[in-house]
Amino acid sequence: MRLQDKVAIVTGAASGIGRASAQLFAAEGAHVIAADVNEPEGGDNIVPLRADAGSEEDVAHLIRSAVARFGGLDIVFANAGISGGLASIFEQTPEDWSEILRVNLIGPFLAIKHAAPLMKERRGGSIICTASVAGIRAGAGGPAYSASKAGVINLVEVAATQLAGANIRVNAICPGLIETGMTKPFYDWARQSGKEDRLGHLNPLKRGGVPDEIAHAALFLASDESSYVNGHALVVDGGLSISHPYNRQEYGQTSA
Ligand SMILES: NC(=O)c1ccc[n+]([C@@H]2O[C@H](COP(=O)([O-])OP(=O)(O)OC[C@H]3O[C@@H](n4cnc5c(N)ncnc54)[C@H](O)[C@@H]3O)[C@@H](O)[C@H]2O)c1
Repeated sequence: MRLQDKVAIVTGAASGIGRASAQLFAAEGAHVIAADVNEPEGGDNIVPLRADAGSEEDVAHLIRSAVARFGGLDIVFANAGISGGLASIFEQTPEDWSEILRVNLIGPFLAIKHAAPLMKERRGGSIICTASVAGIRAGAGGPAYSASKAGVINLVEVAATQLAGANIRVNAICPGLIETGMTKPFYDWARQSGKEDRLGHLNPLKRGGVPDEIAHAALFLASDESSYVNGHALVVDGGLSISHPYNRQEYGQTSA
């Protein structure tokens, strides 16, 4: 019961990482509002709510709802995101960029803007935003997606700084390849073409991750166990981003 009686909002909670996190937070004793543009599942200690994480009106309403229902707000996991596809810089349009940045970057900005003043009244809180290894360097997403996630990593640093003295921690998680709705086409393609062994093969663990592995990182950042972690981007990628690309076989390194 690491979140006993805490009040938490999770966005993007109808699928993948958000759904797993809402369930884990609730299992750890939190009152959870699970928000999504699609209908999220309810459950013990989980209240589903339709909201667009990139709309200021919806985010303000979501946060007011948490306070009206549970009397305050302690944790926000601003996790909703869209991939926007893998089209190149030369194929994407300004409209593509506007929508991807609206959901992936303006969404977390709005969550921080509206949640932090209420958390201040509670004398503290934890805000977690989902970035990505795509925000660290190229090669893990489309151009607007990567830029949006790099923006999230910077946003948590700026927000943590601007919230100095408020006891509100703001951190990001950078997942690597995780099997969710977002990566389903890729997993389906690999399985159908007999290339399942290629899923996650570039990281030292040589496998993709599951939503629960990100949910547990979010739980750590949400709980008091991470009470001195602030403005940090926690990479959870099986080691994908620690190495420059190299050919294992050329260097005589076969798999263990
Ligand atoms: N799956 C991966 O490999 C991976 C890797 C790095 C980062 N991420 C990030 O993880 C987060 C969660 O994605 P996922 O992998 O669980 O994918 P997912 O598609 O399974 O879940 C994303 C959820 O966000 C919701 N959503 C989309 N736009 C929304 C909006 N405007 N408002 C509210 N909800 C909205 C979707 O309906 C969906 O339920 C995203 O921010 C994504 O960029 C995923």
